[in-house]
Amino acid sequence: MFVSKNLSVNEQGHLTAGGVDTTELAAKYGTPLYVMDEDLIREHCRSFKESMDRYYGGEGLVCYASKAFCCKAMCKIMLEEGMGLDVVSEGELYTALSVGFPADRICFHGNNKTDRELAYALENNVGRIIVDNIYELDRLNGLAEETGRNANIMYRIKPGIDAHTHNFIMTGQIDSKFGFALETGEAFEAVKKALKCSHIRLVGLHCHIGSQIFDIDPFVKAAEVMLDFIAKIKEELGAEIGELNLGGGFGIKYTDEDSPVSYDKYMEKVSARVKEICAERKIKQPFILIEPGRSIAAPAGITLYTVGGKKVIPGIRTYVSIDGGMGDNPRYALYQSKYDAVVANKAGEPKTETVTVAGKCCETGDLIGEGMPVQPVEPGDILAILATGAYNYSMSSNYNRIPKPAVVMLHNGESRVVVKRETNEDIIRNDLL
Ligand code: LLP
Repeated sequence: MFVSKNLSVNEQGHLTAGGVDTTELAAKYGTPLYVMDEDLIREHCRSFKESMDRYYGGEGLVCYASKAFCCKAMCKIMLEEGMGLDVVSEGELYTALSVGFPADRICFHGNNKTDRELAYALENNVGRIIVDNIYELDRLNGLAEETGRNANIMYRIKPGIDAHTHNFIMTGQIDSKFGFALETGEAFEAVKKALKCSHIRLVGLHCHIGSQIFDIDPFVKAAEVMLDFIAKIKEELGAEIGELNLGGGFGIKYTDEDSPVSYDKYMEKVSARVKEICAERKIKQPFILIEPGRSIAAPAGITLYTVGGKKVIPGIRTYVSIDGGMGDNPRYALYQSKYDAVVANKAGEPKTETVTVAGKCCETGDLIGEGMPVQPVEPGDILAILATGAYNYSMSSNYNRIPKPAVVMLHNGESRVVVKRETNEDIIRNDLL
């Protein structure tokens, strides 16, 4: 009935998440409110890990891409689940280390890491630094030399696959700010250079072909392209590349229009192809890393809002205004992303209205969605937007000086605040006169 399996309707006709009445959460913690289901997050981690075990003999590491949703509690859950972590800034790395996340299970990404970030990663013995370009390699080697350390790196490669659409295309795809191009020989030259660097250990190659992908084929194709390159490196340079990181990007169900495939199928197909190619090309089967972000966090989250004014514009549309908006969820404004909406206190009723959900920012484009089917909605109702667990809190802003909502985590039918609601005091905290 709902896009996420942890959602249901109770006897009062209220929407529940992880068995907890969402209208009670709204009353207890206020709105807007991000609600994350810890049990579902853990379940997602376990399914990824089980697939890795089942189809690839556990010879891999599932790294949660923390950009999807990062806070101390989330890093702690990942730590407890034995996951790896993908971080992309000093802030994400700092958050992970603050809960004692083991640095050897961290992949540090980014197309423009600063010297300070690289030094911080080195100092903390981050397991894999994903180097994006030659300028970064030189700086990292220099910093490692200065501090008498060695850096384990992976190279970010552009495999030439654009999977952002439902029909993936293979193009030159040189036009990306991320990574080294294969077809120009840039990647190969970079490998030669890394092999000569005194303080660099090239442990693997990385690629990430996009996000919210529903097809398995582009992932298989990416693995083929990458293994072909690994074979070439072995044949021509005699170097063995031990690890292959295939990135994230597994699609999730936001609305009934989306039909994601199971990660199990993905692991099954990719593993089979990897094993086949390694046997054909006589290369060692690499240790495989994957970096799911959205698929772990998004279905586990909902956002609760209180409905304010309703504006019926005859023959045009009905606007329903909420107490949040693009500040806590900029995804419609940025990408026209579609969501399902449910009036939490009337979740058992049929959806008989179609509305545009508008935020409270001083901006026409501040919408959460248009043409959204909902139950009959009135001021004071609690509106739930579903599958907001990824790229909502992590992409939130203080536009219009609106404090960010709290994040509440659900576990075993209990709720607790894991990120406090911001106050006006927080808003002016860094202001000076
Ligand atoms: N690994 C790398 C190197 C990435 O760049 C990303 C996402 C991931 C893993 C995780 O991908 P996922 O499994 O979450 O699809 N803000 C956009 C999504 C941007 C994704 C950026 N990179 C959105 O809200 O849809």
